[in-house]
Amino acid sequence: MCGIVGAINGGKVASDLLTGLRRLEYRGYDSAGLAVLQNDDFHLHKAQGELKNLEKLMKTDPIDGRVGISHTRWATHGEPSELNAHPHTVKNICVVHNGIIENYQDLRDKLISEGHEFLSQTDTEVIPHLIVKYQHQGMSVEVAIQRAIQDLEGAYAICVMDKYAPDMLFAARHGSPLVLGYGEDTHYVASDAMALAPITQKVSYLEDDDFVALNQHHVEIYNGNGTHVQRAISVSNIKEDDVGTNGYEHFMQKEIFEQPDIIQNLFFKYFNRRTLGFRREQININFSDLKKMTIVACGTSYYAAQTAKYWFEKYAHLPVEVDIASEFRYRESPMAKDGVALFISQSGETADTIAAMKYAKSWNQKTIGIVNSERSTIARECDLDLMIEAGPEIGVASTKAFTAQLMTLACMAMKAGIDRGALLSDDAIKMAQQLSELPEKMREVLDDKEIYDDLAELIKDHSTAIFVGRGLGFPLAMEGALKLKEISYIHAEGFGAGELKHGPIALIEQGTPVIAITPDDALLEKNISNIREVQARGANVIPVGDCSSIKDIGVSPKQAVKMPSSTGITMPILYALPMQLLAYATTCAKGLNVDKPRNLAKSVTVE
Ligand code: M6R
Repeated sequence: MCGIVGAINGGKVASDLLTGLRRLEYRGYDSAGLAVLQNDDFHLHKAQGELKNLEKLMKTDPIDGRVGISHTRWATHGEPSELNAHPHTVKNICVVHNGIIENYQDLRDKLISEGHEFLSQTDTEVIPHLIVKYQHQGMSVEVAIQRAIQDLEGAYAICVMDKYAPDMLFAARHGSPLVLGYGEDTHYVASDAMALAPITQKVSYLEDDDFVALNQHHVEIYNGNGTHVQRAISVSNIKEDDVGTNGYEHFMQKEIFEQPDIIQNLFFKYFNRRTLGFRREQININFSDLKKMTIVACGTSYYAAQTAKYWFEKYAHLPVEVDIASEFRYRESPMAKDGVALFISQSGETADTIAAMKYAKSWNQKTIGIVNSERSTIARECDLDLMIEAGPEIGVASTKAFTAQLMTLACMAMKAGIDRGALLSDDAIKMAQQLSELPEKMREVLDDKEIYDDLAELIKDHSTAIFVGRGLGFPLAMEGALKLKEISYIHAEGFGAGELKHGPIALIEQGTPVIAITPDDALLEKNISNIREVQARGANVIPVGDCSSIKDIGVSPKQAVKMPSSTGITMPILYALPMQLLAYATTCAKGLNVDKPRNLAKSVTVE
């Protein structure tokens, strides 16, 4: 959460800073700010709301300089306002920060008692005050920054300018990511490589507790022990196209439509195109003797984990425990000897999931990360990482990452089934065949996109929508509800259809939309009985299912999403699409911001 960009080039940095911020807005968009150092003074603009407000300000009153820092904010401490927007300046020091300083109140009280005056409600403001305090004790700016961060508890990535060191820029990280970028006669600091993609592909990923001092020509990096270190320079493979909407109206729409190709590529990664044989070498884990597996994740990634539990248990006879990372990390759960723990995260930077992984490591678990971002903390720190290869996901609502996670997990479950002798080779071939047909079926579903505009009209004015499913349809119902609520702000809940009578059915009023996931599977009859019960109480049911299931539910064909046939291994991936399209169309019909829903940010790097 929050994105930071710094640049130093001895000329003009403002345009590069704004370019970087545009790529980081997915991390937060409550306010934005930019400061440059020119003629021995800071020039600073801040604006509440999306980056476009800061851009307007920069147009009407341009500022520029040889060195600068900038920030896009997701508020943690203090309301989203101009006053709380970064950068924060105290005397000669100017700071941007991503993360949370957990002990900021104690630090602030102490600094106030020492005569420091605070202007904002942020936790960040303690940082420039501390640096100034240590400089006044005679420390150089480098030493003062390193001394100040010793006082901080929590997670941070910071970038600092000092008026008295106008040819320098400083940065440090602890728990929050930071990269360095190498351009022509320019050095950059940013929250991720994507921010720098339009400017430079040459980047170094900083390690935790690194401190950096940069000027236009040199970069000095010190690790947490103060030892001078080098961090390899790599060429990031993020393309300009990856970070644009590519002709689509929104990132979410683009990302929904990318899914068939992503699933097809993953299929070719895990299966032999000709024989359909499983390429076991792609998953370097032996599941044979495993007693239990733990899967931990947040949000949409958690629903992917819930789905995978069904697969691992059914196809590999492997008991699986699934937990939400924010609960798991504090639950003090004993973990099995020689156990395996799986951490699913699109960003690979979710603070709770990282903490859960660290907890599992303390129990000597083999940790496996299923991630989208190659150089993320989870990818780097887990014992084995499986990339979902979905490409950058910018829309706050996760779409392509979800189906790519599911595809990866489906393949893992098959590998586990083969390793454990629970899945016969004939069955594995049949499943591979079904997965190979999936991209085409996904394209078929996406071709039918017009229907969602009509369905959105049935949903958009309601304050509540219910999603129901059974078996594999249950986690998908929860994912469908999350998609709808996070971008359309309609209160939506997903339930196991069999659970309705135990309480949730009380929510049904005349006309309440109930989106019913009804594939033609072994539970269809039971599913339909549950749906009739809500229909009897006035629910307006929108079935998403095969022809036969839709007919049985007896709604007008215009009010149903007709799906191609599917099986246990393909259904959740295929049926995820109507969930996404429904949320997307409803949000567009309400005229809301699809890619940047209120109060949210893409990467949740604070707990
Ligand atoms: O990057 P992660 O997969 O760890 O993120 C987890 C959740 O924050 C994320 O899935 C969130 O729930 C999305 N906004 C859902 O669309």
